[in-house]
Amino acid sequence: MIILKSPEEIEKITQSCLVVAKALDSLKDMVTPGVTTMELEHFADEYIRSNNAMPAFKGYRGYPASICTSINNEVIHGIPSNRVLEEGDIIGIDLGVYKDGFYGDAACTFGVGKITPDAEKLLRVTEESLYLGIEHAQKNNRVSDISYAIQKHIESHGFSVVRAFVGHGIGRDLHEDPQVPNFGLPGRGPRLKSGITLAIEPMVNAGRHEVVVLDDGWTAVTMDGTLSAHFEHTILVTEDKPRILTKIH
Ligand code: MF3
Ligand code: CO
Repeated sequence: MIILKSPEEIEKITQSCLVVAKALDSLKDMVTPGVTTMELEHFADEYIRSNNAMPAFKGYRGYPASICTSINNEVIHGIPSNRVLEEGDIIGIDLGVYKDGFYGDAACTFGVGKITPDAEKLLRVTEESLYLGIEHAQKNNRVSDISYAIQKHIESHGFSVVRAFVGHGIGRDLHEDPQVPNFGLPGRGPRLKSGITLAIEPMVNAGRHEVVVLDDGWTAVTMDGTLSAHFEHTILVTEDKPRILTKIH
């Protein structure tokens, strides 16, 4: 069942999303050669808590950290560790907060120092696909219109959309209906209405779409070892244009 949000609820989700956006913006500047993913974790955890919010991921189904840090061939759910970022790496940082009863969720993939043109293209095309998906999050469209827009863009550049994980509704729960796949034919699934809040999150592999989860039970990596990127925003469907909530405004 899709839960429509009232103006009061939207205001609270907006506040949660603002903490997410500001935290990611600070993390962006910390992503440099020599930093460990645990340093990013500590910064994020403290930043979230100092904004009267809680990290959404810590303890979620037993997840051990406040952010996910997924490097190179890691698709999502990489666990922060003593691993040191190196020039040329790419790192996806996924961050969620819970504040005043509501969740916000976003992710971004950053280059560490100078990265290869192929990696640059993967990041660019993945982020573009997120914005194309968001453009289709219009009242009276259907959920799979978002999915189709994302998949078409990704595949037109020779990349693959991950099938094993999808975007989601968000609100009083981190994961609400509907699921928002990043693939599929247009015109399917629930119709979008003003007041629906969605986390749209394309995960894109440079090679094949298949992923494998490592023995830590979390880290999803590309089966073929190729690079992977992930971008995510929490958005609101309105009477007119979709509103991106996880950005600094
Ligand atoms: N953005 C992801 C999601 O939508 C991050 C979840 S990490 C987890 O679920 F640890 F909380 F599972
Ligand atoms: Co999400």
